[in-house]
Amino acid sequence: MNKLPTHVTLVEVGPRDGLQNEAQPVPAATKIELVHRLQSAGLREIEVTSFVSPKWVPQMADNTEVMAGIQRQVGVRYSVLTPNMKGFEGALATKADEVVIFAAASEAFSQRNINCSIAESIERFRPVAAAARAHGMKVRAAVSCALGCPYQGEVSIEAVDAVVQRLLDIGSHHIGIADTIGVGTAGRVQQVMEAAMKRVPLAELSGHFHDTHGQALANILACLQLGVHTFDASVAGLGGCPYAKGATGNVATEDVVYLLHGLGIHTGIDLDALVDAGAFISAALGRPTASRVARALLAKRERLASQP
Ligand code: HMG
Ligand code: MG
Repeated sequence: MNKLPTHVTLVEVGPRDGLQNEAQPVPAATKIELVHRLQSAGLREIEVTSFVSPKWVPQMADNTEVMAGIQRQVGVRYSVLTPNMKGFEGALATKADEVVIFAAASEAFSQRNINCSIAESIERFRPVAAAARAHGMKVRAAVSCALGCPYQGEVSIEAVDAVVQRLLDIGSHHIGIADTIGVGTAGRVQQVMEAAMKRVPLAELSGHFHDTHGQALANILACLQLGVHTFDASVAGLGGCPYAKGATGNVATEDVVYLLHGLGIHTGIDLDALVDAGAFISAALGRPTASRVARALLAKRERLASQP
């Protein structure tokens, strides 16, 4: 195996990507408690909410309340999704540290997700990136459907590459390669990442893998082998995108931490506390965690507790 990174940064997207697709209302207090538990577990980058249209994504309508309710911890970066200047105003008013813009590598997905073409979306993100930079906020950009699209199927590396460059051109600091529907496999993921690495420094490149086909951990390992050392993940494997039907949540943060610690890679995350955070939100949602590692560790705890 190639030399792997010694430290990996995980960006926790559970409160946003994880909960945005929940049909049942999730109280703001529950979301706030989740963020508190995640930061206590050692997560240093947390995607908290979205400043998108509440008609499009009702679950994120409490964005201002959630941002206001968080007791911030020094050293933690709190990010929010901003599709346009209206969203940016929300991010600014609630003192987000970072904005996330999100363009698709597929025209069909761009239309379904944000109601405009890729080119139009870049023009909408241009002032967002400029305003964020002017206010000293970091600009993270996600490239959706980089490994495949629910509407158009295959997505070429050239299409991904073009969007990466456009997002850099408008001032993005960071590029995330997103497998929105979790279809990618390790070889293809390496090809897409290798192309992105020609444009983006490793320190500002990340992977965002939904786990629909159970490939996310293998894809992360494939990225680690290239030196990529930042990944998004969602506690308890929560989530999915409302405009990518059938796609499951992001890879579970617990599963990624278990893999990384097993490889001797430092994350700064306390796995037990993270499992507790996942158990908290799973109980609040009334369903079992999607994290295999959490299930195994919770079962082990029960076995130990029942021993005389
Ligand atoms: P639109 O309807 O074309 O927008 O939606 P518009 O500019 O014509 O405005 C229509 C109405 O929306 C107006 O209100 C605006 O004020 C309002 P009205 O006059 O009808 O009462 N509006 C807003 N309200 C609150 N916040 C805003 C905002 N903007 C307009 N920011 C829009 C365009 C982008 C707003 C819409 O399509 C939208 O909100 N889409 C959200 C899509 C979304 O959140 N998808 C999920 C997140 S992306 C994701 O999960 C992928 C990712 O995880 C990576 C991956 O896995 O690929 C990041
Ligand atoms: Mg996503």
